[in-house]
Parts: sequence; structure tokens; C-alpha cells
Amino acid sequence: MPETNYKDAKQQRMKLILVAGARPNFMKIAPLVRAINRHNERLENIATSIEFLLVHTGQHYDIEMSEVFFRDLGLPKPDINLEVGSGSHAAQTAKIMVGFEEVCAAEKPDWVVVVGDVNSTMACTIVAAKLGIKVAHVEAGLRSFDRSMPEEINRLVTDALADLLLTPSPDADENLIKEGIPKEKIKRVGNVMIDTLIDNLDQARQALATERFGLKERKYVFVTLHRPSNVDNEKSLTSIMGILSDLSKRMDVVFPVHPRTRKQMVDFGIWEKAKQSPRLIFNDPMNYLDTICLVEKARFVITDSGGLQEETTYLGIPCLTVRPNTERPITISHGTNQLTSLETIKSDIENVLNGYHRQCRIPDLWDGNAGKRIISELIKFQANN
Ligand code: UD1
Repeated sequence: MPETNYKDAKQQRMKLILVAGARPNFMKIAPLVRAINRHNERLENIATSIEFLLVHTGQHYDIEMSEVFFRDLGLPKPDINLEVGSGSHAAQTAKIMVGFEEVCAAEKPDWVVVVGDVNSTMACTIVAAKLGIKVAHVEAGLRSFDRSMPEEINRLVTDALADLLLTPSPDADENLIKEGIPKEKIKRVGNVMIDTLIDNLDQARQALATERFGLKERKYVFVTLHRPSNVDNEKSLTSIMGILSDLSKRMDVVFPVHPRTRKQMVDFGIWEKAKQSPRLIFNDPMNYLDTICLVEKARFVITDSGGLQEETTYLGIPCLTVRPNTERPITISHGTNQLTSLETIKSDIENVLNGYHRQCRIPDLWDGNAGKRIISELIKFQANN
């Protein structure tokens, strides 16, 4: 076989800006960084080397909402942090846009890669599209069909502007086609969040979080709640906390509290009372490894998070999602997820405790290789356009 002379190969460099802003973004960026590093390490890829800059918008800034994820996931320190902080949707989006425009003008990337559906995702997409920089959206095509969710607006705008739509599941492809997105722009690459779960599962198991929290496997419930629809409304939040307090009379309930939720509990005057339930175990927002460790050993999960709907499906743990809809229907059709409401949650909890929940099948392409497929789609697109 003739030897390839890599030294003589014409080198093409591709420069990416990877955008991360809020907690769930970090789990989606980690597999991309890994896949890029692996790509560059392979000698046969010398012809298409990839350079990347990691830009943190600063949408999430508390150590436990941001820095601990960089540490747990082995992410490099961001090259640039826009430090935008919190604010109204308009204020936060505008600040990100102003800061990110300067970064793009100085760095002139070939691609801006955005993930998920947070304000940072949409803000950076608008900036790049207006500067004529190609945008790749990881986790494209998810739709709750509920425009009262800020994330749904972010998804619609991002997908309308992106050049390459990298989807996790067939329902996402169908949504995009119905919206008139040309098929050639849509590439199903699988679930990048599951790459991170697979990469870190052994380490999460070694985190021994159950022991540290004094919990017994399958004898506790793991809870997270942060959606404005659940926690910004006094009646809903009071009612949910009452249900959790009742549940904690029967089993331990572990609840890492998002800063938004804690603030609302304090403002509504229910924080002090909630803390008195002895088996309702509140904690600060948890790092990734402890979270996965506690989810894997829980009896079931109550949440309104997008990521946890997917992680419980992969791990086969029953999940009650306190929302009227989900942009991740595959977690219901294939997985362990079930939507619940304040009216039905008590009976849904009884059903789960009585062992009623569907058998689960892990969706296709939730296999730990989504990051690799994303990088290869970017290279193909670059070569063909
Ligand atoms: C954001 C995302 C949501 C995602 C969630 C994950 C949008 C519109 N929403 O919601 O999709 O599921 O992140 O956590 O992008 N705060 C802190 N410290 C922080 C960050 C926030 O105290 O590090 C507090 C501030 O009071 C802030 C509030 O939390 O006003 C809400 O933060 P924000 O980023 O606006 O929205 P999230 O509810 O975190």
C-alpha cells in the first residue's frame, strides 16, 4: 500500500467558536471539545485541522452553576467570558449580542456552534447570521409547541437562522421539515448529552453521593424544579412544596435547589417552613457527577428539566415531568418519562411507587458518538460548500 505523505497534504484549517452560556450547555459542549481534540490528534486528519475558541457568555455565573461543570467534565477554561450575568430576557440577550459581535469581528471564525435552547444560544446565532458566519445548532428541531416557554422562542429563532441543523431524534427532523427547512441542512447525529453521560458514568458511580447523603438505593426520590411556569407562580410552587413535604413523610426526597427556585421560595415565604420537613433534603445546585450518581440510584425522579428527561430514559429510572408538554417526546414514546401536573401528580407518584411504569428502550444514536458525528458533519459541510 502506498504511504500517505501527510506533511505534503494541503492543509485546511477550520476555525470554530463554541458557545456555552448556561448550565445545560456545558454537558453538550464537552463531547464537542473531546471530538475536536481526538480529530486533531489523528495524523490522517492533518489536512483538516480544527481550531476552536470556547466562549462563555456568563449567563450562568455562580460557581456551582458553571465552574464545577468545567471541572467535572474536564472542559478547558473559556478563552473568553462575556460575563453578562442575569437580567430580563431582552437585557440579557442584548448584552450577549453586543459582546459576542465584538468577539466574532475580532476572531473571524468559519463557524459558530451553539447548543440547546437558552438565551445565549439564540443571541449568538443572531449575531453570527448577521455577520455572515455559518451557524451549526446542536440539538436542533426540538419543539414543545408552547410559545409561552422562553426556550421555544429560542429554538424557533435559532433553527430558522442556522446553516446546519444537528438533530438528536427523528421527531426533530420532522419538525424542521414541516417548518420548511431544506433537508440538506438537517443531519441526525444523536444525543450529545448522552455522550457526556456515557463518558462520566463510571466516575459518577465512584462519587458515592448516596453514601455521603445517607441515602439507600431506590429508597429516595430525586427532585429538580426551575421552570418559570412552576416556580414563578406562588400557588404552583406552594402546592408542589406541599406535595413534596407529604412525600417526604414516606421516603427521603433530595432536592438540589436552583437559584431561581430558592429566591422564589424565600419571596413567597415558604422556604423556612419547607426546610422543617426532616426527610426533605435541600442542597445547593449539585455538580454533574453527584447528580448522575443520585439519579441512577433513585426510586424515581420528579423534574421539569429537559436534560433529566433524557438522562432518566438512558438510565431506565422512572421520571415524572411537571410540565404540560415536552420538546423531547421520544423520552415518553421510548423512555421512562411521563408528563404530570399538579392535579395528577399524587396519583402518578402512587403508580410509580406501585411499580407501574413502561419498559424503556434507549433511542437510536444515543450511543456516546454524537460528538464525533457532529464534527464529521461540520467537516463534510465545509468541504462541500
Ligand atoms: C436558564 C435557561 C433554561 C435552562 C436553565 C438551566 C433561558 C431562557 N433559560 O434558566 O432554559 O433550563 O437555565 O438552569 O435561557 N441565577 C443565579 N446564579 C446563576 C444563574 C442564575 O443566582 O449562576 C439566578 C438569577 O436570579 C437569575 C435567575 O437565576 O435571574 C434565572 O437565571 P436565567 O439564566 O435567567 O434563567 P434560568 O432559570 O437559570
